[in-house]
Amino acid sequence: MKYDFDQVCNRKDTDCLKWDLIGSVFGEDDIIPLWVADMDFPVAEEIKKALKERIEHPFYGYTRPGVGIVDAVVKRMKDKFDWDIEPEWVVFTPGVVPALHIAIRSLTHPGDEVLLQQPVYYPFFPAVTSSGCQIVNNGLELIDGKYEIDFEDLEAKLLPNSGLGSNPNRIKTIIFCNPHNPVGRVWNREEITKLGKMAIDNGLVVISDEIHCEILFEDNKHTPFATISKEFEQNSIICMSPSKTFNLAGLDVSSIIIPNKEIRENFINTQSGIVPGPNLFGLTALEAAYRHGDEWLEQVMEYITKNLDFLVQYTENKIPKIKVIKPQGTYLIWLDCRELGLNDNELKKFLLKDAKVGLNDGFIFGEEGSGFVRINIACPQAILEEALKRIENALNRL
Ligand SMILES: Cc1ncc(COP(=O)(O)O)c(C=O)c1O
Repeated sequence: MKYDFDQVCNRKDTDCLKWDLIGSVFGEDDIIPLWVADMDFPVAEEIKKALKERIEHPFYGYTRPGVGIVDAVVKRMKDKFDWDIEPEWVVFTPGVVPALHIAIRSLTHPGDEVLLQQPVYYPFFPAVTSSGCQIVNNGLELIDGKYEIDFEDLEAKLLPNSGLGSNPNRIKTIIFCNPHNPVGRVWNREEITKLGKMAIDNGLVVISDEIHCEILFEDNKHTPFATISKEFEQNSIICMSPSKTFNLAGLDVSSIIIPNKEIRENFINTQSGIVPGPNLFGLTALEAAYRHGDEWLEQVMEYITKNLDFLVQYTENKIPKIKVIKPQGTYLIWLDCRELGLNDNELKKFLLKDAKVGLNDGFIFGEEGSGFVRINIACPQAILEEALKRIENALNRL
């Protein structure tokens, strides 16, 4: 079937975070919200159908992921990434963020350190600090409009772990974000291998957040961290979910793939009794999405790619002081606003009060995000165009 993603749907009065909570999040009501990471597109028909069928069976008691659901995850990893996983490696959680908290608690003790690569998805910060750990930042470098891993800095940060430093073995894990939110990099095999070897050689288990793994532009290919080698597989926790790919964030479902038995058992023991499994509708949607969602996904990616081209053209032609950091993946686009000459508070105020658009402030992703903002382009193009016009007009009034 052909989907019409141009259609503007009213999401108001559905208790949705993106549109209904504008006032409490931004302190303004009449703004265009292009912030939190969900799409303003209805889901695939096959997902709706599966949910309707499940609702028709009016028993919503305790539910556990059955063989069919686990098999859908196993098959997805094989089909999309040529990754052979065993069914028992899959652990379900009601989201990737809860999984990150569990993973860190299961791998660390209070006082340990966790390495992040800023600017980065800001819920990583409390996942570290609420576990009593400290953040070590291996900041990304922006080189000629493209973000790169600073391997020299990484090596230096890991030096104490090598036994040579004064404070050995304090960094226990890294949250690796691939594809990276917000800078849009899809890390390639060589980069992943280099980072993974450094991490594993220094005793780290890598938590790889791969939630954006199926939102890829052009011929970029996603490489799951664990597919590099058996050693990588045995030293990693891979966080997968259909929620970004198929727009299911409200259904709270993700599959965490942990090949190493001991690491998996620690994760499950840490989760047990505190964080439940996903709810039955999330599981139903996951299976339908993974088995039948590809036609929708292909079309939505085509549409988002057009939106990206539109954003690039519009900013180049009409708002040239705002530079798009061209992403390889994710529908969250990182905009370099430094040429506007505004400090972070002025930029925030300008976008909200003058332009009336709700974006994510760059500085919340870490100090490297100062002067940047993140825009979500998974919306009908008319909405994106209106938001960009508002920014252009407000700039002309500045
Ligand atoms: C990198 C990354 N991880 C995790 C999440 C959220 O995961 P969940 O809603 O499954 O907790 C997001 C949402 O934007 C994200 O970008």
